[in-house]
Amino acid sequence: MLFYPEDLIEEVRVSNDIVNVVSEYIKLEKKGANYFGLCPFHREKTPSLSVSPTKQIYNCFGCGKGGNVIQFIMNIENLDFLESVRLLAERSHIPLPEEQSKEAIRKAGLIKSITKINTQAARFFYDKLNASGSEKVRKYLGDRGLTAKTITKFGIGYSSEDWDELYRYLVHVGFDAQSILQSGLIIKDKKGGYFDRFRGRIIFPIFDIRGNVIGFGGRIIDSSGPKYMNSPETIVYNKRKNLYAMNFARTSGEKSVIVVEGYMDSISLHQCGINNAVASLGTSLTESQGRLLKKYFEEIIISYDADTAGQAATIRGLDILNGIGCNVKVLVLPDGKDPDEFVKKNGELSYRKLADNALPLVEYKIKVLKNQINIDSTDGKIEFLNKCSDLLSKIDNRVERDMYISKLAKEYNIPKESLATEVYKRAKPGQKIRRTFEIKKNSVNSNQEGIYKEEKLAYYERILLSFLCIDNSAYFVINDRLGEYDFTSENADVANFAFERLRSKEGIIPAELLNFVNEDLAGKFGGVMQEDCNCDDIKKGVVDILNKIELYKLDIRRLEILDSLQAQQDEGVVEKLNHELKSIMIKILLLKKGGNRNED
Ligand code: CTP
Ligand code: MN
Repeated sequence: MLFYPEDLIEEVRVSNDIVNVVSEYIKLEKKGANYFGLCPFHREKTPSLSVSPTKQIYNCFGCGKGGNVIQFIMNIENLDFLESVRLLAERSHIPLPEEQSKEAIRKAGLIKSITKINTQAARFFYDKLNASGSEKVRKYLGDRGLTAKTITKFGIGYSSEDWDELYRYLVHVGFDAQSILQSGLIIKDKKGGYFDRFRGRIIFPIFDIRGNVIGFGGRIIDSSGPKYMNSPETIVYNKRKNLYAMNFARTSGEKSVIVVEGYMDSISLHQCGINNAVASLGTSLTESQGRLLKKYFEEIIISYDADTAGQAATIRGLDILNGIGCNVKVLVLPDGKDPDEFVKKNGELSYRKLADNALPLVEYKIKVLKNQINIDSTDGKIEFLNKCSDLLSKIDNRVERDMYISKLAKEYNIPKESLATEVYKRAKPGQKIRRTFEIKKNSVNSNQEGIYKEEKLAYYERILLSFLCIDNSAYFVINDRLGEYDFTSENADVANFAFERLRSKEGIIPAELLNFVNEDLAGKFGGVMQEDCNCDDIKKGVVDILNKIELYKLDIRRLEILDSLQAQQDEGVVEKLNHELKSIMIKILLLKKGGNRNED
């Protein structure tokens, strides 16, 4: 059941021009009637995402994603249908009916004003960095290799040594002390006065995935205090739920994400073209962060400094990620280097190579063990193998487990069976072990051709329905020709929706047809609308496609008859089938001829 009325959803859709919305995420260029850009849903170098301003749909011929503006938001923001409608409604200031408690309204108001304060503060810091008096800071950033473009992209700024410069500014532009206090940007002293939290520090604004400023990190330039100072937890900032640079990384189109420790590491990586790097904000990774990453990426590559990567706290963090089903790998940097230094010295490609060779978590843990234990002694070797057995016994997947057993046995020259015994001794009783082999489904399918035809038929139907939405007057021709036609199950709902609209003389347009279809179908329709419906003469297009559909239907029936004839003994039935077959063949012939007649 839908929560909002159909026409309200359509109003939301119409009020959000797809070209504008897509442009907020990627750069679009106009070519002919359409706009093109790099698809944010897969990694590519040449644009294959097209957006049609007239049809109000998008489509990527690279990865097949497509649909209207609602599905675009669903895909890019990873939201469900209603969440996407809400986001778009907010964007176009369309009020949606919603019961809200007083408390919820108060909280929403506070979130709004703190976000505003944060944004103003970020601008203030940014301007300060570029003002006179901050030469020393700009030189420091320059010496660390940051370009002006990077500084702007990340909104890096500076807070002067002054005690309450930001506080005074924020009050001056109209914010009250209470709200400013709740943003964490100022601190109340014992006498009830206020002073700035960040003083004499390089400022890294922290963004949420939408790009709102939610907090700040401040780095000192000299050694006069703790290296970093960060925003406290506020109503908008929870460091256990956010990841630095995630707002950029999530649209990188990469299938993996690289998690580094520091602000500077992620900024450096982005600067050299590695756009899928995020920083964990100085804490070990949490389950919420894992879920966030899992939403956008298939694989998580941890790239910490060599000295912290192997620490127990880090490994626990990685186990947490692994526990919620993330595919975790660890990138091993040469000793003593952090990603920032490494990439500056060796460049993007060397770093990408390391990322490609990142070790699966288990292998990494074995490597850490090997470094910790002296395996030259017999005792050491035994300890090492015992600990490895502990590790391997926790792997669910039997193939993977056996693979590591073989590998280790070979590497340390011990009989594979003894290691296996050790591992299986430790495995929890009743532990799930995935089956290695699946019984192959019966691959002989006599109706293979029929299934193939069904798909093709569904495809033709989509062309027909798209034409119908582009030119509603085609309804009469289509209705005449199809009569009691049953659309394939995949398209049945959409077809009903469209025909119902036209029967009641309400009309329907292409993008509207997609309001209520699932992601997969939206992609398929998006592709058809963008690529197969561009003929100048829509009426002719409709007739052609109707012919094709009818031909296919007849052909499917023809194959069915041939099938049944093979097994049929009853002569009467055989005769009847033969008769039907003959008339089908004639219809097919006539249709093919008719098709030709239509050509001239
Ligand atoms: N951190 C922190 N407080 C500290 C030290 C570190 O919050 N006193 C967090 C910061 O988020 C920092 C991250 O831990 O970015 C990693 O620390 P580090 O590697 O020391 O900092 P970098 O960002 O690499 O800074 P730089 O390269 O300038 O030393
Ligand atoms: Mn560093």
